[in-house]
Amino acid sequence: MLLIVGDPRMETTVDHIDDLEELFHHKLAQQYYVEQELVETLDEMAINATNDQMSEGFADHRDETRTQVQRLEEVFAELDRPAERRKTPILDALEEERHALEDAIDDDDLLDMAYMNAGMMTERIEMTAYEGLSMMATQIGYDDEISKPLESNYDEEKSAYRELDAMATASDMKSLWDRLTP
Ligand SMILES: [Fe+2]
Repeated sequence: MLLIVGDPRMETTVDHIDDLEELFHHKLAQQYYVEQELVETLDEMAINATNDQMSEGFADHRDETRTQVQRLEEVFAELDRPAERRKTPILDALEEERHALEDAIDDDDLLDMAYMNAGMMTERIEMTAYEGLSMMATQIGYDDEISKPLESNYDEEKSAYRELDAMATASDMKSLWDRLTP
């Protein structure tokens, strides 16, 4: 199987993957890149968000994400392979979009809303990434040392998503929505 991404500068081209273990490793290296990048992203969003609840939520998930990076390092160690980062165009596109919106939006409340949506989108993408990794780990027959850390990360993405979702409908956000609605 050949996975090709057009732009060679993205360093996402994969020469050859011919078994499930290599595909698992490829996806693991991508998620390792995602988690490392998201530590920085969440830190920036925690600083830039003006809503206290949202800012705290991003800061909490930033700290969780640091632990998620360590869990993925444990998985690499369990596989007896060095931790490897593989650039992921999905995350790079989300980052590009975030920077474009930061440039385009002056209103603090509106930027918070853009962050909330970006956060929810990112969590859903991460949940799907972990679902895929867990599915492959089961098929390959990896033991708990590999499947448990992936599950823990998945659970944290899920609760981060739920937290943002609950925030979006919380009563203290109502005045904000009202203000932003023409
Ligand atoms: Fe994460």
